Amino acid sequence: MDKRIVLLGPPGAGKGTLARRLAEEMSVPHVATGDMLRAEVAEGTELGRRAKQIMDSGELVPHEIVVEMAIERLGRADAATGWILDGFPRDVEQAVDFERRFDSAVPDVCLYMKVDTGEIIRRITGRRVCPRGHVYHVESNPPRKEGICDEDGLALTQRDDDTEHVVAKRLEVYQEEIGPLVDHYDELGVLRRLDASGDTESVQTRALGIVSQ
Ligand code: AP5
Repeated sequence: MDKRIVLLGPPGAGKGTLARRLAEEMSVPHVATGDMLRAEVAEGTELGRRAKQIMDSGELVPHEIVVEMAIERLGRADAATGWILDGFPRDVEQAVDFERRFDSAVPDVCLYMKVDTGEIIRRITGRRVCPRGHVYHVESNPPRKEGICDEDGLALTQRDDDTEHVVAKRLEVYQEEIGPLVDHYDELGVLRRLDASGDTESVQTRALGIVSQ
């Protein structure tokens, strides 16, 4: 089965949810630049302070920061046999720089997740997260006790960048960058389209069907 997978898709498409499931199924790490940046914010590092302002505006964090971060993470021993990349690369510039600086940066498969806008909004507005990053949805994946994380008992909140205004900006940035990025992976012969509608089980089954071909 393919072990190096890039997930592309709009904000709220379910990239993180699918990536966690594939990573578990395939015993490879889930590497999400958004999660790594949020961890920096939570730790109050200098990088986290810089990144937070940008993330809260819906724009992309500077290229050098995220490429460096991803390469450092993928260079660790647990990523030697594969990885699931979620939220990176975000544009062609990141992809090309990644390929220039990292051996085997071209994935076996790039899954391009398609889901309609109404469903994206429904997924984002219903998302709840705990401070340690566990993700729920008020309808499709509710916690056992309302507002409380099943894993660590901490209070669930909405992400700071899940406000209507910031989501609109994130979608705009996504629309600007996704076309050339999809073309890039198509030219490399690794692009596969994934219907990401329906429940998480169905999306996972479809994804596994593609990556095991
Ligand atoms: P990032 O964290 O990468 O956010 P994103 O791409 O906007 O994606 P999301 O995390 O919002 O959504 P998702 O697709 O993972 O959906 P999820 O699985 O949670 O980036 C945030 C910011 O960081 C960026 O704006 C940027 O500033 C910065 N950044 C990050 N990477 C960068 C990079 N490479 N370069 C520059 N800047 C970068 O699902 C959403 C909800 O739906 C959840 O509640 C989930 O439970 C639910 N759900 C999931 N699947 C289903 C399903 N099939 N059915 C029903 N509900 C579902």
